[in-house]
Amino acid sequence: MKRPKITIVGAGNVGATAAHWIASKELGDVVLIDIMEGIPQGKALDLKQSGPVEGFDCRIIGSNDYAATENSDVVVITAGIPRKPGMSRDDLLKINAKIVGEVTAQVAKYSPQSILIVVSNPLDAMAHVAKKVSGFPRNRVLGMAGVLDSARFKTFVAEAADVSVEDVHGFVYGGHGDTMVPMTRFCSISGVPLETFLSKEKIAEIVERTKNGGIEIVNYLKAGSAYYAPSASVVQMVEAIIKDKKRVLPCAVQLEGEYGINGLYVGVLAKIGSHGLEQVIELQLNETEKTMLKKSADSVQGLIQVLEGK
Ligand code: LAC
Repeated sequence: MKRPKITIVGAGNVGATAAHWIASKELGDVVLIDIMEGIPQGKALDLKQSGPVEGFDCRIIGSNDYAATENSDVVVITAGIPRKPGMSRDDLLKINAKIVGEVTAQVAKYSPQSILIVVSNPLDAMAHVAKKVSGFPRNRVLGMAGVLDSARFKTFVAEAADVSVEDVHGFVYGGHGDTMVPMTRFCSISGVPLETFLSKEKIAEIVERTKNGGIEIVNYLKAGSAYYAPSASVVQMVEAIIKDKKRVLPCAVQLEGEYGINGLYVGVLAKIGSHGLEQVIELQLNETEKTMLKKSADSVQGLIQVLEGK
């Protein structure tokens, strides 16, 4: 049986680190693509040479030519410019929409049956662009953000409660931006409600820190944005697809009436398996959650309107 083929577009920090996680988990062969000559080739060769030390047998190549990506099973799109201090994710909108549009056209040409996972920002709008340009059905165009935002939330909870990150459960809804909706009502430590361990004030503080989780790192790094947690998060989605795990993960998916939202990419819980999106999990939200999710969806809608010149 052939190994799965996973293309990563963008050999920057997120793309290259995703390739690293994929290789170390032996999820499949990796093609790293970038417009910068030599960068994907050099990083791929370097990563491949760690194989004998780490004990993985993936084929890893780097290229500037999309022909190398032909018949990929999963394509991760990280291409685009990252945020600089003072820039919101939305400032990136038009620049990255052009880049993601061009990338998606190439990817769809060479791998018409692939499943796309978009990581470029502003995430929900870029997933919308990839969906539109590829013409793929919604099950094959996903966006990564919920896994990352939830991972940040869980990190802060584990630290505050002084428990293992493995025992913290929870997820974040909404767009990947300031309007994201940490669903604290559904969060627990091994099934025990969060309030048993942490005060309301502490939980509110963690929610705020989660919302600003990306910018906190941008402010430290100055010349770039986060990449270890974003790449680990997208690889969790890749693994769910490659191994048909039917994971229930918070992902950006195009809603078709679920949660009263139509035609927009918004982060919700979704079942992810070999077909990509296999089910949107629809929860009964309370009024506060509904209002917050609507506000988040409206902000995604605002970006789409800017993009489409309406
Ligand atoms: C972040 C960027 C990648 O949240 O959106 O770190």
